Amino acid sequence: MKKIDNYIARSETDYNRLYSSSLANPEFFWNQIAETFLWKKKWTKTLEYDFNKPEFKWFLNGKLNITENCLDRHLLNDPEKTAILFEPNDPYQESEKISYKELHKRVCVFANVLKNKNIKKGDRVCIYMPMVPELTVAVLACARIGAVHSVVFAGFSSTALAARINDAECKALLTADGSFRGSKIIDLKSIVDQALLECQSIESTIVFKRIGSDVTMNNNETWWHDEINGVSDYCEAEEMDSEDMLFILYTSGSTGKPKGMVHSCGGYMVYSTYTFLNVFQYHPSDIYWCTADIGWITGHSYIVYGPLLAGATSVMFEGVPSYPDYSRFWNIVEKHKITHFYTAPTAIRALAKHPVSLVDDNNLSSLKVLGTVGEPINEEAWNWYDKNIGKSKCPIVDTWWQTETGGIMLSSLAGVTDDKPTYATKPMIGIQPVLLDNNGKEISEFDKEGILAIKYPWPSMARTIYGNHQRYKNVYFAAYPGYYFPGDGALTDSKGNYRITGRVDDVVIVSGHNLGTAPIEDAINLHENVVESAVVGYPHDIKGNALRAFVILLDEKASINMDKEIKEQISKTIGPIAKPDIIQIVPGLPKTRSGKIMRRILRKIASGEKENFGDISTLLNPEVVKQILNES
Ligand code: PRX
Repeated sequence: MKKIDNYIARSETDYNRLYSSSLANPEFFWNQIAETFLWKKKWTKTLEYDFNKPEFKWFLNGKLNITENCLDRHLLNDPEKTAILFEPNDPYQESEKISYKELHKRVCVFANVLKNKNIKKGDRVCIYMPMVPELTVAVLACARIGAVHSVVFAGFSSTALAARINDAECKALLTADGSFRGSKIIDLKSIVDQALLECQSIESTIVFKRIGSDVTMNNNETWWHDEINGVSDYCEAEEMDSEDMLFILYTSGSTGKPKGMVHSCGGYMVYSTYTFLNVFQYHPSDIYWCTADIGWITGHSYIVYGPLLAGATSVMFEGVPSYPDYSRFWNIVEKHKITHFYTAPTAIRALAKHPVSLVDDNNLSSLKVLGTVGEPINEEAWNWYDKNIGKSKCPIVDTWWQTETGGIMLSSLAGVTDDKPTYATKPMIGIQPVLLDNNGKEISEFDKEGILAIKYPWPSMARTIYGNHQRYKNVYFAAYPGYYFPGDGALTDSKGNYRITGRVDDVVIVSGHNLGTAPIEDAINLHENVVESAVVGYPHDIKGNALRAFVILLDEKASINMDKEIKEQISKTIGPIAKPDIIQIVPGLPKTRSGKIMRRILRKIASGEKENFGDISTLLNPEVVKQILNES
C-alpha cells in the first residue's frame, strides 16, 4: 500500500506542487490519496458530480469500514500506542491512556452491544454524552456496524434533543446519568427523560454511569456497564459503500429547524486524514489536543476521526478552561507535554483577560503548533496567543471550515506555509475557492470583499440535509449556480491569502458556535406575552459576537420578569448557549413595506450606532428607529 506521507507537504514548494497537481487533475490526485487507505474493495470511479442537482459522489462502489482504518490498521504497527488520552474534569482524578488495542477492544464490545439491541446498518443512533472516552467508543461502535451516528452536544436542551432525535428517527439513544462541567454537575438523564416523552422512534436507551447519581431507569433503559458485561470483543467490521451515510450532525440554519448535515464514509475518511496531517504536521510521537467537544464538527473531524485515522494520540478533555481556575489548559499542556494545541478564539480571548502568570507558571516548551477554529480571530488575540502560549516560536494555523465541509478548507500548514494574523490564508490542497460579487461574477482584485464560494467538489462535502434535499439545494447551491456557497464573506491579499470577514446571512457565530437567529426568535415568540421578536448579533470582546433581542410585547405592563422568562424559554427550547446578552422591549420593529424586518438597522443599533442608518424612508414605520434608539 502507498503511504500517505508521500503526499503531505513538508515545504512551501511541496504545497505549491501538490496544490497545482490537485488542480490539474483532481480525480487523479484524490485517487492517489485514497489508495493509501484500507479498502475492502477498490472504487470503480473517483468522482461523479452535478452542481445543479446537486449530487456529489466520491470513490464510487468502493467498499470500506472507517473503523478498520481508525483502529485495526494501526494494530499491525503499534498496538500499544495511546489513541485517546483522557483528562477528566477533576484535576485530582487520574487521567487515562487508552491504547489503540484497548480502544479497538472497547469499540468491538460496544458494537456487539448495539447489535444485541437490534441496531442494524443504516439505523440512526443518537449520542448525547459528556466528553468521556465512551463517547468516542459509542461513535466508533456505530461506524463499526454501519449505524449512522447523530451526536447531539450535551449542552442542548430536551426540546432541541427531541427535535434532533425525531428528525432522524433515531432507533437508540446513548447517554449518561450526568456530566461534570467545572464545579457544576449537569443532570443529563432528566433532560433525556423529558426529551423522550416526545420521541416515538427510540427503542432502547443505554446509560453510561458518569456521576453516580440516583436516576430513574424507565422501560427499555439499561446501564452501559451491564450491557458490556461478558460481551465478545470480536466484531467484524460491516462492509460499507463509500457513499453510505457515516453520520448526521445538526447545524443551525438561518431559518427554521436545524439542518441534519449528512456525511458519507469514503470521502470523509480520506479528507479528514489528509487535512489533519497537512495542517497540523503531526509526527508519530506528538501529543495532539483539540479542546472542542465531540458534539460539534471540530470534535468529529479533529478529535475522533482525523487523528485516529492518522494513528495519532488525541487528547479528550472533559472539563472547562476555567476550572479549578484559568490555568487549567496550561496545566494540561505541561502535564501531558502537549505538542499541538487547537482551540477557539473565544477561549483565547477569555484566557487573555486573566493574569499572564497563570500561563507562565507552566512549562509550555513541548508546544510546537497552535491552532484556531470556529470564528475569525482578531489581531490582539492572535498576538497574545503567539507571544504567551507559542512563545513566538509556534506557527498558528487559523482553520476556516464548517460542519458542511467536513474538514478544513482554508488554513496555513504549520511551519510549511506562512501564517498571517487574522487570515485563514491558503486553500487546502484540492480546494478551489473563489470570491464572487453580488451578481455571481468572480472577483480577481485583492482587498475587495466578496462572497466566498467553492467551485469544485471535495471528498468530505456534506451530501445532503437529512430528509430534505431541496433545502440542501436552496441553501448551498441555488444562490450562485455552479458553486458551493458557504455563507461567509471574505477578501484576499495580494499574495492570495484569504481573510474571512464574517457571515453574510442570518447566522451569528457566538463563542465559536453557529447560531441561526430564526430558531431563537421562534423560541422567544413561544412566550405568551410576545408578539414578535428579532435577534441580531453585535461585536463582543470575548465571545466575538453576542446576541441582542428586540421584543414586542402584547402587554408592556407585564414586562417585569420578561428578561428572565425569555432567557428561560430559550434555554428550554434550544439551550443556554443561545441566550441573548441583551433583551430590549421595543414598541415596534423596523419593517419594509412588504413586512420584512430590516435587520441591517437593528444590527447597527446593536453595535452602538446612533445615526447613519442609510435611507430609512422606505420603511413602513421609520419613527420606530428613533423610539428604539431612545430606549436603548
Ligand atoms: O462563519 C464561519 C465560521 O464558522 C462557520 C461554521 O460554523 P460550524 O459549522 O459550527 O463549524 C465551526 C467549526 C469548523 C463558518 O461558516 N468559522 C469557522 N472557522 C472560522 C470561521 N470564521 C473565521 N475564521 C475561521 N477560522
